Amino acid sequence: MLEQTDPEIYNAIKNEQARQINGLEMIPSENYVSDAVLSAMGSILTNKYSEGYPGKRYYGGNHNIDVIETLAVERAKKLFDVSHANVQPLSGSPANQAVYFALLNLGDKVMGLHLFFGGHLTHGWKVNFSGKFYTPVNYQTSPNGFLDYDALEKQARQENPKLIFCGATAYPRLYDYKRLGEIAHSIDAYFVADIAHEAGLIAAKVVPSPARHADVITTTTHKTLRGPRGGMIMCDGNPSEPLKPLPEDANPRENLPTLIDRAIFPGLQGGPHNHTTAGIAVALHEAMQPGFKMYAQQILRNAKVLAECLMGYGFNLVTNGTDNHLMLVDLQNKNITGKEAEKALEDVGITVNKNTIPYDPRKPYNPSGIRLGTPALTTRGMKESEMRLIAELISKAIEHSNDSNVKEKLNKDVIDLCKGFPIFKYN
Ligand SMILES: Cc1ncc(COP(=O)(O)O)c(C=O)c1O
Repeated sequence: MLEQTDPEIYNAIKNEQARQINGLEMIPSENYVSDAVLSAMGSILTNKYSEGYPGKRYYGGNHNIDVIETLAVERAKKLFDVSHANVQPLSGSPANQAVYFALLNLGDKVMGLHLFFGGHLTHGWKVNFSGKFYTPVNYQTSPNGFLDYDALEKQARQENPKLIFCGATAYPRLYDYKRLGEIAHSIDAYFVADIAHEAGLIAAKVVPSPARHADVITTTTHKTLRGPRGGMIMCDGNPSEPLKPLPEDANPRENLPTLIDRAIFPGLQGGPHNHTTAGIAVALHEAMQPGFKMYAQQILRNAKVLAECLMGYGFNLVTNGTDNHLMLVDLQNKNITGKEAEKALEDVGITVNKNTIPYDPRKPYNPSGIRLGTPALTTRGMKESEMRLIAELISKAIEHSNDSNVKEKLNKDVIDLCKGFPIFKYN
C-alpha cells in the first residue's frame, strides 16, 4: 500500500530495513523490537484521543484504550516491583521533565552526573530545560571511571540539592542504589533513579533494582527493555484522584503518584500515544517470560566477552571492563579520535557512537572514545563466539581505517555474519 501511495517514504523505510539487517548495531541504547511490538505500534490505536487516565478520560469511546493502558500499568508494576506506574511519558526525556514538574519549583537545585562523564542532558545541563529552569550541580566519576560515592556524598552535603539523579548513558558499571538513597535522604532530597539503559536488565533481575531505595524511577522503554520508543515513571504509594489538584498543605512525599500523574497530564502532555502504550504492554509481557531472563543474561555474557577481547586487542576500556550491557573505549593509545573511529566502523557496517571519556582532553563533537554495547546483537541471537569475531572486526577496521580494500573485505564479513542472524520474521 505505502509502496504505491508514497514511494519516497516506502523506499527510505526499505533502505533503513536493509541497513538494520546487514549491519552490526552496537549502539547500546538501541535494540530490535519483536514482530508483536511492531504490530501493536502499527495499529489503528494511533487514531484515538484519550486525555486522562483509565476510567477518567476527557474523550468518549475509550473502553478499549482503558483495557490496554491498565494492562501496561499492571505489567510495569509487577515487573519493576512498584505500586504505581505511569506509562504515558512520550519518551525518556519527557519522563524526566515530568519529575521536575512534579517535585520541584523553578530554580531549585538538581544534582546529576556530568554529561561528559556519561550523564544525561535531562539530569541538569546548561543547554537543556533542566539547566535553564533549574540550578544544576554535576558530580563526576573518579579518574578510573568509577563513581566515587564518598565524593558524591560530600558534594551533596555542600550543595544541598533538592533532587539527586542517578543513571547515565555511558556508565559501564552498576549503581549502589542503597547508598545513593541514603545520601539523598540524609539531606532531605528526592532520589530519582533513571534506569533508561538498564531497564531490561533490571526487569530480568540480572542487575540490582533501585526499587525501595529511589523515591522515583524513570525509564525509557526502547533500550534493553526492547519495547517501542516511550517512557515510564514509577514510584510507591497510591494515587488519589489524579485529575483533582492536591490540597495546598498535602505532603509531597506522601503523594508522589498523584503529583507524577498530574505532571504528565494535565501538566505537560495531552493525549497519550495509545499505539505506543500497546507496544509497551506487549514488550512488558515479553519481558515477563523466561526467555527474556535468558536474553538479559546473554547480554551480560556477551558484553563481558566483547570487553575482554577488545582489551586483548590493546583497547583501553574505561573502568577496565563492564558489569552491564555497554563499554566505553578510550582510543587515546590508538591514534584515532572517537569521530574517526565511528566513521571507520560505519564504513564496514558496524554502528557505534563517539563518546567522551572521563576527563576527556577533547571536545564532545570529536571526543576520545566510542561507546558500544550488546543488547541489539543479543536480540539477533549472537553469542560469545560472535563477540570474539566482532572484536577482531572492530580492531581491524580501526587499525586499517584508511585502507579501502581492507574495509571492503571487512564489510563483506559483517554482512556474512548478519545473514546467520535474521532480525525480522520477514527478513
Ligand atoms: C539515562 C537516560 N535518560 C534519559 C534518556 C532520554 O531518553 P529519550 O531519548 O527517549 O528522550 C536517555 C537516552 O539516551 C538516557 O540514556
